[in-house]
Amino acid sequence: MKSSLGPDTGIELQKIGTADLDDLAGRCRELFQCETWHAAAVERTLATPGSFALLARTPRRAAGLILARVAAEECEILWLVVPAPWRRRGIGRRLLRAALRSAAGHSAGTAFLEVSQDNRAALALYGSEGFRPCGRRRAYYGGGRQGKACDALVYKKALASGETCPAN
Ligand SMILES: CC(C)(COP(=O)(O)OP(=O)(O)OC[C@H]1O[C@@H](n2cnc3c(N)ncnc32)[C@H](O)[C@@H]1OP(=O)(O)O)[C@@H](O)C(=O)NCCC(=O)NCCS
Repeated sequence: MKSSLGPDTGIELQKIGTADLDDLAGRCRELFQCETWHAAAVERTLATPGSFALLARTPRRAAGLILARVAAEECEILWLVVPAPWRRRGIGRRLLRAALRSAAGHSAGTAFLEVSQDNRAALALYGSEGFRPCGRRRAYYGGGRQGKACDALVYKKALASGETCPAN
């Protein structure tokens, strides 16, 4: 079901840092619906300078996560996931906008990300948020959705200083 996500939907965005790591393994199990190795990967990333994560959550549930890094005035979106039951409610868009706003607030002028060429949902989201392709990494993903190697597309977006995305 598709519905818009207004301020009354009960989803809040929370910036998470190393202080929240105790909670992270459980959150990652919910987010990725499998083992906890993701928590270690998120933890390692958050430990690198310029990295930050935003969690979309209800009081009891994790409903999405974005992980990004700002370095040398560039922002890299490292990870964006919305668990299947929460998809198509505007959460991915809201996380992306909030992360870009935060990155612009930390002097990033450009955002980059990599996306598999067969990821229709993500390509539509990034395209509609102003990202444009600027490169291709051939056979970057070992086993694509059909079991074949798949290219990664590199996408780029210029961020206005003081980026004014619509309210999240
Ligand atoms: C990609 C992903 C983060 C989107 O999250 P989401 O919360 O469902 O996205 P939103 O509801 O904010 O949708 C925003 C736009 O993305 C596009 N979109 C999202 N899901 C789509 C789908 N299944 N098919 C086509 N377009 C889709 C639409 O343009 C949508 O806008 P609309 O609803 O106004 O038409 C989510 O599908 C996901 O977690 N996928 C698995 C992990 C992944 O692929 N991450 C990206 C790696 S680069």
